[in-house]
Amino acid sequence: MRVLSGIQPTGRFHWGNYFGAIRQYIELQDADQAFYFIANLHALTTVRDPEQLCQLTFDAAVDLLALGLDPERAVLFIQSHVPEVSELCWLLMTVTPMGLLERCHAYKDKKARGLSADAGLFTYPVLMAADILAYDSDVVPVGEDQIQHIEVCRDLAAKFNHLFGETFVMPRAKLLDASAKVPGIDGEKMSKSYNNTIELFEPPKSMRKKIMRIKTDSRPMEEPKEPETDHLYQLYSLFANETEREEMAALYRRGGFGYGEVKKALAEKAEAFFAEPRQRREELVAHPERVWEVLHEGARRAREKASEVLQRAQEACGVFCQRR
Ligand code: ADP
Ligand code: TRP
Repeated sequence: MRVLSGIQPTGRFHWGNYFGAIRQYIELQDADQAFYFIANLHALTTVRDPEQLCQLTFDAAVDLLALGLDPERAVLFIQSHVPEVSELCWLLMTVTPMGLLERCHAYKDKKARGLSADAGLFTYPVLMAADILAYDSDVVPVGEDQIQHIEVCRDLAAKFNHLFGETFVMPRAKLLDASAKVPGIDGEKMSKSYNNTIELFEPPKSMRKKIMRIKTDSRPMEEPKEPETDHLYQLYSLFANETEREEMAALYRRGGFGYGEVKKALAEKAEAFFAEPRQRREELVAHPERVWEVLHEGARRAREKASEVLQRAQEACGVFCQRR
């Protein structure tokens, strides 16, 4: 079984990305084969500063390794290092109905907001399908927002197989644990588009500052409070063990505490939680050549598979045209 997923380097990773996606990818790295890549070609539809895109791509790789992605167990690579995917994307494009892409939400939402979309955003799901099909992927762990794209991928694979004979392995989505939805410092879903994130590797001082800024209500201290619906409690729960969670919940229900105390406890827990990855990150940053080595070896292994699949697809549709 091959597990594959990609993550866009459109900003530095935050708590939401970690608990909602990255941690679960890492847990899946013991699948028979796990492929993870940094989707810099997809990010190009939003990040237009070349220096920044390159830096964010490298940072994403460093972060994933620091957080426990193990190159001995998983293949880690940069999307653009596998040009076979872009070639496969074209083959898929020729069997993609316009109507299918017009219904895809990334494009539809942008259009609904009156913004002009480019062909990159419009055809984004086809590139994503190529990412998946290029490696004969069986399982694709993704968040809810990407399920539609996996459906598009399955449609395109089925159509290609129907037209040209069995070529692609049919992938299935594995929905990431939705209960891991992480609130931001304003209580809304944490997202870089809402400017409410706490980054994974923020300097401890600025992390503390942000934690202290987490929005809370102004009810009197004595009043008992319901922990489950409180976003500060939800954030604390990400880092606490069961006993600590229960103790904190009891404190909420009893009342007579200040949110400041909870914030302090959260800051301590979060700092301790990321201390080891932070140290690993520093070591990696001091030795960028090690990171590049991992990425090059990852790309080599990814290309090995992708070139086999690309040739299979080219032969199937009649563009592997060579003197025999
Ligand atoms: P952002 O919303 O900050 O732009 P992305 O859309 O790039 O984040 O998300 C990358 C991955 O992280 C996706 O799989 C997404 O489901 C997950 N993710 C992002 N924010 C959260 C959150 N607040 N809670 C849970 N998962 C999240
Ligand atoms: N579109 C995905 C996201 O924004 C990232 C991605 C690109 C991806 N190609 C993929 C995820 C292939 C899974 C499989 O989160």
